[in-house]
Amino acid sequence: DWVMRDHVAEAVALIRKQVGDEEVILGLSGGVDSSVAAALIHRAIGDQLTCVFVDHGLLRLNEGDMVMDMFVGKLHAKVIRVDASELFLGKLAGVADPEAKRKIIGSEFVTVFKQEAAKLTSAGAKGAKWLAQGTIYPDVIESGGAKSKKAVTIKSHHNVGGLPEQLGLKLLEPLRDLFKDEVRELGVALGLPPEMVYRHPFPGPGLGVRILGEVKPEYADLLRRADAIFIEELRNFKDEASGKSWYDLTSQAFAVFLPVKSVGVMGDGRTYDYVVALRAVQTSDFMTADWAELPYALLKKVSGRIINEVRGINRVTYDVSSKPPATIEWE
Ligand code: XMP
Repeated sequence: DWVMRDHVAEAVALIRKQVGDEEVILGLSGGVDSSVAAALIHRAIGDQLTCVFVDHGLLRLNEGDMVMDMFVGKLHAKVIRVDASELFLGKLAGVADPEAKRKIIGSEFVTVFKQEAAKLTSAGAKGAKWLAQGTIYPDVIESGGAKSKKAVTIKSHHNVGGLPEQLGLKLLEPLRDLFKDEVRELGVALGLPPEMVYRHPFPGPGLGVRILGEVKPEYADLLRRADAIFIEELRNFKDEASGKSWYDLTSQAFAVFLPVKSVGVMGDGRTYDYVVALRAVQTSDFMTADWAELPYALLKKVSGRIINEVRGINRVTYDVSSKPPATIEWE
């Protein structure tokens, strides 16, 4: 629509004016906010933008390739993909505590990102001068209010605060005044595919908090395949009354890996394999959430496919806990 097109033109003009002919670095995660920020800044300044995409090895099935296809293949943006999966999995080996895992993933992420950023800023006068972030209006409010209000940390989130100062970079935040819905509309106006722009949120620590306890490559592999089946079927199944898919009718849905073995039977044989839990919630603010009343036919299809297609998983359960007292993620 023309209002959004106007907004794009205005935002592009503002970025050009701010940045001039200087270089910009942006941390691209594949999430909605950083993706829209990248597309917008790329529209404004093209090759003056370099995106750094740190793949911590805890992304969803084919996610890294999809990010590269979109930003490099379609938008022709400059993206440095850092495959840090061995580093992250190495640091996580033997660590089972959820907060310890979050801290490791968060701090390794900052370390890797800083190393890449340092390469881009070191080119003297030609080096990058700006760090772009996909901060949106609710983030601005949250970090302002957090100090006074939040007494207890339930889960430590990725914290990249202070990064611009540490890198000696100026901060570029073109989405600062926008609400999530506006960010999504902007993304569509910039030509990002709706499936990307309307994707469910995904936590910074990724599958690291969806594999309970110690993270192992084998677990991540099984989880990725189970999760992809769940999401594919949520997109396939339409609710007749609304015509919407169950993916669109839920706010967040994913599989969780339980490192517990249970007995099953397949053909003439006995199996002794891992368990996957499915989680799907409906919420408007993610502070409280109801478990989604998915149709049994959908659950049946998903569990049948996971057990048949993902060798190593022989049992699927559905999580019927609301938040509170449960949280949305299991860790
Ligand atoms: P919980 O599990 O606390 O999650 O009910 C609420 C929402 O926050 C997301 N989440 C995270 N997002 N970094 C993120 O960027 C994190 O460390 C993190 N932990 C939870 C979660 O996916 C849900 O949408």
